[in-house]
Amino acid sequence: MRVLVVGGGGREHAIVDACARAGHEVLCTPGNPGIARQARVLASPQDPDALADLAVREEVEVVIVGPEAYLAAGLVDACRERGVPAFGPTRAAARLEGDKAWSKAFMLRHGIPTAAHRSFSDLGEALAHAASQPLPLVVKDAGLRAGKGVTIAHTHGEAEAALRDIFTQPDAGAVLEEFMTGQEVTVLALTDGERYALTPPSQDHKTIFEGDTGPMTGGMGVICPFPLSMEDLQRIRAEIIEPTLAGMRAEGHPFVGVLYAGLMLTPQGPRVVEFNARFGDPEAEAVLPLLDSDLARHALDAARGHLDPDTVRFRTGASAVVILAAPGYPGEPERDIPLTLPDPEPGETIYHAGTAEREGRLVSSGGRVLAVTATAPGLNAALGRAYALADRVGFAGAQLRRDLGARIGARPEPPAV
Ligand code: GLY
Repeated sequence: MRVLVVGGGGREHAIVDACARAGHEVLCTPGNPGIARQARVLASPQDPDALADLAVREEVEVVIVGPEAYLAAGLVDACRERGVPAFGPTRAAARLEGDKAWSKAFMLRHGIPTAAHRSFSDLGEALAHAASQPLPLVVKDAGLRAGKGVTIAHTHGEAEAALRDIFTQPDAGAVLEEFMTGQEVTVLALTDGERYALTPPSQDHKTIFEGDTGPMTGGMGVICPFPLSMEDLQRIRAEIIEPTLAGMRAEGHPFVGVLYAGLMLTPQGPRVVEFNARFGDPEAEAVLPLLDSDLARHALDAARGHLDPDTVRFRTGASAVVILAAPGYPGEPERDIPLTLPDPEPGETIYHAGTAEREGRLVSSGGRVLAVTATAPGLNAALGRAYALADRVGFAGAQLRRDLGARIGARPEPPAV
């Protein structure tokens, strides 16, 4: 099958890798130097209509959309108008991620458990409410901010600064939320709008520093699977995934693609922290290496409205992703740092997230630069392999977290030599 993957980060590299592994011809736009080794990389028109025209011209059989910005811009709608199957939600359905205030209201309408919250479009009202709330307080930008629009404010001053920052943008909105405690877990549902298959649960590590401190990032590393109890898994299906898909259908916007449920396992049960409308990044880099069936086939089936969940299969075993980020991230990252990559062994992959080629040399070009991934029969071994591989990457000043998995008591096991 000829597949077009849209995007150019670590997540899209993992999607390309999964499609290539299954023997498909893969095209990708805009891609990156790592993707270019596995796919034909095409120059990227930004406009959704031009991208959909590209899919028609290249006679692709299915388009898989990675980043949320393309979904919010209506790429899936544009593909559908041209009769090209596209795996991802329409612009209206992608509001589940793109408009946090709408998403929260949707959860309330459908009884989906989430943190208590209030949404604001006025800075003064938001500041007054924030000042009256207990701490810590979660301050969210209501729009898309590449996973970085969230502040856990430990003082009212921090909450005020975060709100003032949000409201410097035109048409800004903010959501103020109660802080929930518990383990955080990501559950991804591949869905045709009605039927769905869950990937193994995973856990991201969102702050830049160890011990879950420092500013939020897009994600600094993932362990998979997260050890969810059967009871929690059943509740997540019955109380969160199924009512969300049913609610989206009932409101006239069936959700096709990957429903990303970012959850907190609170003492009262699983609650939604946020929905995203696509594979997580770096969750995709952890989950897709464990996929033992054909992602492109599932994407096409889902886009055509007949996903067969029984055909979606994952290997037993575990995976770990260590993100190597540039100095300065999540603020302004240093760029053009030379990179040297070791040759991975079977079961290891270095996904390119923010890399570029300049004068024949591989250099950093973004905040999150590489997603170093390893699989193994158990999580401790997967972590050990991923850290050992990360330590062989040449990348001056790289930032990484050494405490991945610590929240669940995992300990990296050094690989046997
Ligand atoms: N890893 C968080 C996200 O994809 O939004």
